[in-house]
Amino acid sequence: MNSSEDRSSIFLGGDIFERRELLRVCHVLDIDRIVGRDEEISAVVHALGPGTRGSPPETTIIYGKTGTGKSLVTRCVSRQAQREAESHDTDFRFAYVDCSDYQSDAKASREMARQLSDAPDTQTNIPRVGIGAANYRDITWELLDTHDIDVFVAVLDEVDKLDDDELFRSLTRSKESGKSDAHIGAICVSNKIEYRDRLNERLDSSLQDNELVFDPYDADQIRAILENRTDAFVNGALEQGVIPKVSALTAQEHGDAREAVDTLYEAGRIAEKEEASTITEEHVANAVQQAEINRFKQLVSGTTPHVKHILRTLAILTADNPGQQSFSTSEIYEAYTKLIATEGATPLSEDCVYRLLKEQSFLGVTESEHTGGGHGEGRVANRVCSERSRVNGGRHRAPTRDSDAEGTPRTGARAPHVPAHILSTDRLAGRCTDDVSWNTVHRRKSR
Ligand SMILES: Nc1ncnc2c1ncn2[C@@H]1O[C@H](COP(=O)(O)OP(=O)(O)O)[C@@H](O)[C@H]1O
Ligand SMILES: [Mg+2]
Repeated sequence: MNSSEDRSSIFLGGDIFERRELLRVCHVLDIDRIVGRDEEISAVVHALGPGTRGSPPETTIIYGKTGTGKSLVTRCVSRQAQREAESHDTDFRFAYVDCSDYQSDAKASREMARQLSDAPDTQTNIPRVGIGAANYRDITWELLDTHDIDVFVAVLDEVDKLDDDELFRSLTRSKESGKSDAHIGAICVSNKIEYRDRLNERLDSSLQDNELVFDPYDADQIRAILENRTDAFVNGALEQGVIPKVSALTAQEHGDAREAVDTLYEAGRIAEKEEASTITEEHVANAVQQAEINRFKQLVSGTTPHVKHILRTLAILTADNPGQQSFSTSEIYEAYTKLIATEGATPLSEDCVYRLLKEQSFLGVTESEHTGGGHGEGRVANRVCSERSRVNGGRHRAPTRDSDAEGTPRTGARAPHVPAHILSTDRLAGRCTDDVSWNTVHRRKSR
């Protein structure tokens, strides 16, 4: 067999996906793919409905945890509103600005103007830099008036990422300030319920009437969402237990549909790579494990070298003492100083190590439990934690007063729904290269 024959099949993989785009989170689905959000869809329809007939849309604020369908519902309904408006001879436009990509007032305002100017009839060159946020907004208002646009809605997704409220404020006041003749509305979306208080403090109380909260999904809803996407796979590729398993795992945490869809997709990719003909529950377990490793790596990659040394110490202790559930701060400190000596570095003080462990616990990388007394006497038990919801929750969780009170080792409280999983594998204590490398693998039987 010559080499060209060898390579003729390099693009042939497993026969798993029929329409993989249906499982990509960036894909905006058709509205009829949305499952179990009828009330929320109606509420957004109610807010945008007047706009489709040339009346002012209602400004609305949407809250909810990640993966509860906020972005999906808002985008789908906005798109649908634009179509509906056409049938009423109303020129309705919307701009969808993901503020996590455009965090400054100027960037978000520019993006709003850019989207409006992108349509064939409104083509305008928007300067990339050199003008301020207010100028970008003025361009937007001018475009609306020049092109006789009746209604404009700005969807500000992840609005809490914006460094100030100016854009939102100007959208809600553009009419009364005589900036534009168009009816202008805003839909703000936030993953943080605390954002409500911030807005209420600063903005008009009339907005409080238009708040919408998206609750987390339960296992049945997640299951229905996934079952409505099975045409992403070729017929017969999904084994029976796969969707129930993904749904149960996701619902154990906070019912995040994004995570469920991602897990199903990853399971499919693993099966495809293995050239398997079906996706099994084993593929799901592998996908979950891989996601944990990725999240863990991501969390750890942003830390300082000393934090990495401390985490590595804890990982080595965990790997070397399979029967031991947790380690006291003084045990960790002793092992840490030995490790640091082999690296030729100067150790931090025990207090410092204790504080850093506490921080990592708050972020969900480790778990700490206060067992009474001072930290130096072994009364704070620490363990490495790869538990997904803690890692995930930690990443998104702002240090609020409440969570601080609940989440630090001093109180020993844990996320209520989370059993403690201990990382344990020979790959766990990945050896130091130029930097500490974490190659953590979840103990598989613990799930
Ligand atoms: N009700 C639903 N029906 C179908 N898919 C959903 C639903 N809710 C969420 N999803 C899926 O989960 C992903 C994440 O949802 P998204 O709207 O981005 O969540 P949020 O904005 O609340 O964080 C979406 O891309 C979609 O694939
Ligand atoms: Mg979102």
